[in-house]
Amino acid sequence: MNIMAHRGVSSLAPENTLAAFNKAAELGCEWIEIDVQLSFDQVPVVIHDQCVDRCSDGNGAVSSMTLASLKSLDMGLWFADTFKNERIATLQETLLLAADKHLKVNIEIKIYAPDNVFLLCEKIKKVIIDLEVDPSQILFSSFNVEALKLMQFWLPQVRRGLLFKVIPDNALLLLAQIDAYSLHCNYLFLTGKKAKWVKQHGYQLYCYTADVPEQVYQYWEWGVDMMISNVPQAYRHIDDELKA
Ligand code: G3P
Ligand code: MG
Repeated sequence: MNIMAHRGVSSLAPENTLAAFNKAAELGCEWIEIDVQLSFDQVPVVIHDQCVDRCSDGNGAVSSMTLASLKSLDMGLWFADTFKNERIATLQETLLLAADKHLKVNIEIKIYAPDNVFLLCEKIKKVIIDLEVDPSQILFSSFNVEALKLMQFWLPQVRRGLLFKVIPDNALLLLAQIDAYSLHCNYLFLTGKKAKWVKQHGYQLYCYTADVPEQVYQYWEWGVDMMISNVPQAYRHIDDELKA
């Protein structure tokens, strides 16, 4: 049973922080999912929302703040006192930690209008090239096809996954355009029929964000390859039950 830690183990530590990624390593997760955007001074940083308000002690748009301003924020206190002083992680810091802890990283390229898709992709590419990241250790994903096309052009050896909320009828066309490895969809809207259709066409099928293992028992029978979850630890006993 393959489980990816969504934004790190975001049920046990503040999401998208090094603390959450360390938790994933502690729990023995193979994969983490992270969201990447650009700071004002064009550094790829790991944060989900367009604004820092929900997950820090500050406010404002990520794209309007320099890395130094973003680093001045506390990203842990909103979650729990024990995470006080947690700082925003850059993509570079995250990939270094991941390499050290043998974690594979699903880099979600997060585009909020009117973000510059080209610039974000270019900066992500540079970090990966500079760090000489092994392509097998990462996977790009995005709701934005253009972003994945750029990555296909620059780093063709890194696998690409296309994100959907609901799988549309033209999904195969879009997946073919980027020579995708995987399709990632919201588990709430997946049906057995759609799952089998995706699998018949040879794609890996990932579901987000399934936090109650009992709700997705049958998804494994449909051929789903990976659950992206905030609570990877919840799947432990399911695995044990299946093995028993
Ligand atoms: O990559 C899966 C999932 O993270 C996509 O949605 O909004 O949680 O980034 P979101
Ligand atoms: Mg995400």
